[in-house]
Order: sequence, then C-alpha cells, then structure tokens
Amino acid sequence: MTQGPLTTEAGAPVADNQNSETAGVGGPVLVQDQLLLEKLAHFNRERIPERVVHARGAGAYGTFTVTADVTRYTRAAFLSEVGKQTETFLRFSTVAGNLGAADAVRDPRGFALKFYTEEGNYDLVGNNTPVFFIRDAIKFPDFIHTQKRDPYTGSQEADNVFDFWGLSPESTHQVTWLFGDRGIPASYRHMDGFGSHTYQWNNEAGEAFWVKYHFKTDQGIKNLTAEEAEILAGKDPDSHQRDLREAIERGDFPSWTVYVQVMPAAEAATYRFNPFDLTKVWPHADYPLIEFGKLELNRNPENIFAEVEQSIFSPAHFVPGIGPSPDKMLQGRLFAYGDAHRYRVGINADHLPVNRPHATEARTHSRDGYLYDGRHKGAKNYEPNSFGGPFQTDRALWQPVTVTGVTGETVTPVHAEDNDFVQAGNLYRLMSEDEKERLVKNLANAISGVTRDDIADRAINNFRQADGDFGKRLEAAVQALRG
Ligand code: HEM
Repeated sequence: MTQGPLTTEAGAPVADNQNSETAGVGGPVLVQDQLLLEKLAHFNRERIPERVVHARGAGAYGTFTVTADVTRYTRAAFLSEVGKQTETFLRFSTVAGNLGAADAVRDPRGFALKFYTEEGNYDLVGNNTPVFFIRDAIKFPDFIHTQKRDPYTGSQEADNVFDFWGLSPESTHQVTWLFGDRGIPASYRHMDGFGSHTYQWNNEAGEAFWVKYHFKTDQGIKNLTAEEAEILAGKDPDSHQRDLREAIERGDFPSWTVYVQVMPAAEAATYRFNPFDLTKVWPHADYPLIEFGKLELNRNPENIFAEVEQSIFSPAHFVPGIGPSPDKMLQGRLFAYGDAHRYRVGINADHLPVNRPHATEARTHSRDGYLYDGRHKGAKNYEPNSFGGPFQTDRALWQPVTVTGVTGETVTPVHAEDNDFVQAGNLYRLMSEDEKERLVKNLANAISGVTRDDIADRAINNFRQADGDFGKRLEAAVQALRG
C-alpha cells in the first residue's frame, strides 16, 4: 500500500478514525458518519462460507521440476522435458475440523496441488493417504455427516462415526490406515501425498495409460502419538500451519520426490483388483513406482484470506494428456468442486490471482456476474463469430473409454481378488508389533466412546474379517475399556 492519509473505501481522506460523529457532545450518532457505517458494514461481510470439508488448512507456492522422461506416457506440456519447471500452489488441510480447529488431530490430510502450466492449470486434489473410506460418491455426504457435528449434540459422536464405518465395510482399509501411526502426521512437511484416484495419461500417439501419483516426503515421515497430539493441539492449535510458514521463512524449503505407477489401459479389465476402486492400492510389486519429478515449496502466501481461503482446486481441472478414470468417486468429484467454488467464492473465483492461469491466459466466452473485472474489454462474447478470437482445437484432452451394458444403479465391479478386507489385512500384517499395539489402542479408545454394543460389535467385526489376530486384540482392548 502506498503512503498517505487514511481514506474511506472511495479514497477520501479520513479526519478522525477514533470518534464517531454525534449530534452534539454525547448525543446520538449521525447517519452522515459514512466512515462509521462503511466500517461496520464491511466488517459484517468479512467471512465467506468455509469449505464444507477441509475447512482448516495452510498453503504455499512452489516449483515442480521434471526429473525423468515420461513423454511415452503423457503429452502434457509441463511434463515434456527433463529439467522443465512449473510454478505450483499447494494447500494442505485436515478434513473434519472447522476453520479454527486444531491441526494436530487424527484425520486424513488434504494435499491439493495446482500446477500453473502453459496449457492451463492442472489441479491434483489428493490426500496423504493412497485410499479412501468409500468407493461411490453417492455415499460422500452421508459419510461426512458422520465425521462432522451431530445435529442434536453439536459435537462429533463416536456412535455416528463407527456406525457408518461398521455398516460400510469398504472403509476398513482406510480406517486401519488412519488409526495407525500415520494417522497424525507431525507436520505437513513430514507426510507423503497421493493423487489417490486412478487418472488417465495419454501420449502423442493416442495411447492411454492408467496412473496413480505418489509424492514421497524428502523430510522423512514423522508422526505424533495420540498422547503427543493431544498436548500439541491444546498448546498450539496452529502447529502445522506455523511449522510450514516458518520452515519456508528460514529457507528450509520442504520437498517431495514424485512418482507415478503406470498401468497400460488394456490391463485394467483383468487386473486382480478393480483399478478404479478408491479403497484399493496397486501393490508396488504389480506396478512399480516410476520417479519423474521433484516438488519444492519455497514461497509463503502474503495474504491468507486472498490466497488460501479463496484458493480453489478442482479434480476437473485437467490439461491435454491427462484425464479422468471411470472411478465412481472421482466422477462425483468432477461435479462437486466447481459447484462448491461457485457457491463459496463466486462465479468469478477462477479470475482471482491465486486461481487464474499464470503461464497462459483463460480465453472463454463466459462473461459478467458478481465482481467481473472487465478483462475481456470489447471482445465478442459468442462463438462462432466473424471477428476472430478464441477457437476450439478439435483435440480432446484425454482418450475415449469403451463402455458396454445398460444404464442402472450399478455396484462397482469386483475383480478376482477384490473384497472389502484383503488389503486392510495386508496392511495390518505389514506393521511391526509396536505399531500393531498402538493401532489397537487408538482404535479401542475411539470405539470405547460408542454407546451401543451392536454398533461397537459391528465395527470390530470388520477388523476381525481383515485379520483374525487384529479382531481378537481389538475386541479384548475394547472390552477392557468398556468394562
Ligand atoms: C465423492 C467424494 C468427494 C466429494 C463429493 C468431495 C467434495 C469436496 C468439496 C465440496 C470440497 C470443498 C471444496 C471447496 O469449497 O473449495 C472438498 C475439498 C477437498 N477434498 Fe474432497 N470430496 C470427495 C472426496 C475426496 C477425496 C477422495 C479426496 C482425496 C483423495 C479429497 C480431497 C479433498 C481436498 C484435498 C480438499 C481441499 C481442497 C482445498 O484445499 O481447497 N476429497 N471436497
């Protein structure tokens, strides 16, 4: 801001910012004190609706660098050359807490990454977990209702949380992950990120591949125990946000090594797990991690509201060479985010500095609406036209997918080794004895808050089906706590 006298919003100098204008000394306040009215009115409108999920978060700008050639898999321009760099913005978050909630809690962490590419912004809106609780978007609002505040008590209720999970056995894998050591990262810097869904890459020759993204932290994985987190959340609710900002301020730039798993499109139909089921990983033995990039965060936002609260990310923001998969969760998300942005930030949210393309410009025939800035000046606002202006390319961003059958409310197809428990059991059996103990203790503490036996029993039964030993130990631990 330039130097000079304080002004009103209209730029007129302010004579007195301490005393409102009254009718006589000690008399009532006058409507002609427009500075007072303007200040009170603006203050009333400072908030926008917080995100319906992932409300609590922190963000930073950075640089993505290509470190290996992946042009045989994708024609995305920002991945076209080893050494090529692209500006990014990454917003980390928790899921269930409101805007002012504490950072050090057991919850998945959001890992929402915007690449400002020369072909438009590419958003990868992932989490710090490779899987999710459910596999169909139609269940998402119900699921989130159980994670948020109960309509009667106004608090998160163990009854609701474990009722839903117990009745949704596909959640067993993600819940096992969440109550294990990685369920409470020590900071945003000390955790991995995942695209989680399967996406499509396609190359110049028109070949399609199914891919999964992995961002492995170069800081090393560091977690908090439940006890450490309880103390930190109370002492410093902003712990993760502060840690990120301070690390960048002192030049200790956090980074992640970026990998992709690649499945040739033709292998999807016969793969042992449904590759579009978000509750499943692709074991690395089946599809190894291919390293192709480095992500570094190196610049803090200057204004949290403008750049973090108003930042928008959409899984529907693709660029040429990258597209969606038929994952039913992803398909729901392709709608949900743009809709949320139009409600939460407004129809011109994409025009804000943090959201608009930085390496190209948006050229659309959409116009006007709240807070339109007139950027198109006098250009024609329709197409086709005889006056020049933006035109279609006739080349789709992604390759078409073959489908067969009739329409209907279909259950996600099951492949040879698919069931709701197999990968949860594998995850449990991979854990060290110490980690298994902490997992059982964390889960038992949470389940012991459930008030109904049938709800607790059903929840425990899912873990029993994942692994007999897991179920037995959990049942004993819950019994010991519930008496
Ligand atoms: C069908 C399932 C889902 C639906 C309908 C859904 C919907 C939403 C909505 C409406 C928001 C708020 C967006 C905003 O106000 O700007 C959001 C935020 C977010 N979601 Fe989802 N979500 C789903 C599943 C997932 C999954 C599976 C992941 C990760 C793999 C994920 C990651 C995120 C992240 C990281 C954010 C925060 C983005 C930011 O920082 O602005 N969501 N989600």
